[in-house]
Amino acid sequence: MKRMPVKDLQPGMVVARAIFTSDGRILLHSGIVLTAGYIGRLGQIGVNSVYIRDEIFGDLDIPDVVSEETRIETTKVMRDSFDRLEKKHSLNIQIVKQTVDGIIDELLMNRNIMLNLSDIRTFDDYTFAHSVNVCILSLMTGITMGYNHLQLNELGVGALLHDIGKIRISLDILNKPGDLTREEFMEIKRHPEYGFEILRDYNDVSLLSSHIAFQHHERWDGQGYPRSLTGEAIHPYARIVAVADIYDALLADRPYRPSYSLNQALTILKRMSGIYLDPVCVTALISNVAIYPIGTVVELSTGDIGIVVDVNREYPARPIVRIVFNARKKRLAHVHEVDLSKLSTILITRSLGQAEIESLKG
Ligand SMILES: [Fe+2]
Repeated sequence: MKRMPVKDLQPGMVVARAIFTSDGRILLHSGIVLTAGYIGRLGQIGVNSVYIRDEIFGDLDIPDVVSEETRIETTKVMRDSFDRLEKKHSLNIQIVKQTVDGIIDELLMNRNIMLNLSDIRTFDDYTFAHSVNVCILSLMTGITMGYNHLQLNELGVGALLHDIGKIRISLDILNKPGDLTREEFMEIKRHPEYGFEILRDYNDVSLLSSHIAFQHHERWDGQGYPRSLTGEAIHPYARIVAVADIYDALLADRPYRPSYSLNQALTILKRMSGIYLDPVCVTALISNVAIYPIGTVVELSTGDIGIVVDVNREYPARPIVRIVFNARKKRLAHVHEVDLSKLSTILITRSLGQAEIESLKG
């Protein structure tokens, strides 16, 4: 399967992974054949891209660091948290903590799985899906940094609720399509303080979790907000969440720009390291990202072309590749797989873009 922007979808394509609403309902089941009507509707409700079945490269089972059920459950908890605050009810912190514990358990069980870009937004609402991703990415970084269970829970709760202060900002400003006025921008920049004010009132929320909301827009070089904290004056949890927040935002399609590719996102993150972001946290997050994610179509030094079907955590540049085309671009009658970690003479020379992949098929 492959990820495809909604604008490139054609009637007749088959959905490879179910699409959900942020309250957990299935919008489209996997296996459904797209019609023009479905495609139009996806665009209307804000779904940006979809996994599509691919006949030539076959259907790959892309493992996710946390299960689809857990993502759906966590997204529901996020939506419920925003709903409660909107109705002036209190947050259900016990549910939030239990949900974070569930994610931690799954991540610890799946430690050999690398991030695979399969964290696609199969939800209709960016804010909730983004919060869930930031929570997962932050926890993976925390695990790499050797945090214990209590620390991971504090980190996960703060990461999940890092933008909760946005509840106090009017939707007209949050969803404004054009440029913001200076006053509007100033108002948006207050969401860290609002988040801190909301969370610190709960006795069962660690003050450190509340500080994640407060400090996640501070910058390593002191140019962030709201307090212009510098370097180690920023709590390590907030430094981790700052990296996760930016990384996930780069990989998301936004109304004003399409998503960056994995390589672009990693390059931008490295460029920000030591300026915007704590370099230790950047390195820890990147160590969890598969450089050639499952599903990437690559060319080898032999000229053969194939698709990455599995990654080797110890040798990130040497995944397992299923060869589909030979060096003369002829499709093989019998595909075979090579484990590059065991073949030191063969290298990946490049990965292919979507247009090139389509031209191979034609
Ligand atoms: Fe934020």
